[in-house]
Amino acid sequence: MKSFEEYKALAEEYLQTAILVPEGEKGGLAEAMRYSLLAGGKRIRPVLALAFADALGGDLLATLPAACAIEMIHTYSLIHDDLPCMDNDALRRGKPTNHVVYGECTATLAGDALQSLAFETLLSAPLPPSVLVRCASILAQAAGYQGMCRGQFLDMIGEGQNLTSEQLTEINTHKTGALLASSCAIGAAAAGADLPKIEAAFQFGRQLGLAFQIRDDVLDVISTDAELGKPVGSDVQEHKNTYMALLGIDGCAEEINRLTASAISVLEEYFSHTEFLSALARSLAERVN
Ligand code: IPE
Ligand code: IPE
Ligand code: MG
Ligand code: MG
Ligand code: MG
Repeated sequence: MKSFEEYKALAEEYLQTAILVPEGEKGGLAEAMRYSLLAGGKRIRPVLALAFADALGGDLLATLPAACAIEMIHTYSLIHDDLPCMDNDALRRGKPTNHVVYGECTATLAGDALQSLAFETLLSAPLPPSVLVRCASILAQAAGYQGMCRGQFLDMIGEGQNLTSEQLTEINTHKTGALLASSCAIGAAAAGADLPKIEAAFQFGRQLGLAFQIRDDVLDVISTDAELGKPVGSDVQEHKNTYMALLGIDGCAEEINRLTASAISVLEEYFSHTEFLSALARSLAERVN
């Protein structure tokens, strides 16, 4: 197994060359896509995919396009999440949001085109065709109306309403859990894992994703714009339902610890070489950005 920084560097290097800006073109669609994709995210999703593939004896370089495809879907979801019609935020990854720089139409199209590019990229991976089909299918489901988009929709229609913790978990499972779960499942699938192992990787990622979103909601209250690279207080401003509002900071910490422990127990039941992934889960529970 490699370190977080080594997996991240692999993804970073791949993403650098993923979008070709036509020579002499300034302020175009390709530039807008590159702007957000290379703005410096934590790259948790590709790291998870690569680490799962590695833990299961997969080929890291063959997994890389699939791992980076997930980061493209994630980046598209962030560009759209920040639009005025959604969370209306002006700062992302420490920079002005895509629509602030390029305008709403170009930002919308940059998100759309990153989504297509994700599948083009994934399908270019030197993996067996049956594995590619499985990975593409996992990613499509995670991104779409039964995955991230569903969560974003429920998040939006829930604004200003008093949702129960079950309804909030339903939102978080989809808007954040789905892509994190798919990252783990795609890493396992790329290594040629069987269905029970892919499903276990998915369950690990889902629990991790729920904890991840609760920590995101906590940081939206206790952090700063400079530390997060995005505006704090966005959730209150947009009348969002969050676990922070429902449980307070101590309740959130308890829930994050419970979910993290549950994720790690799935890991230990189904996989060997789990040290890297369980340490990553623990560090995400206490992350500061
Ligand atoms: C932010 O995700 C959106 C959520 C799902 C909470 P990340 O915290 O992974 O954002 P980046 O990729 O590091 O910018
Ligand atoms: C968004 O959740 C999750 C996505 C699918 C993009 P948030 O709206 O809380 O994410 P941030 O805080 O803007 O990164
Ligand atoms: Mg949002
Ligand atoms: Mg947001
Ligand atoms: Mg948030």
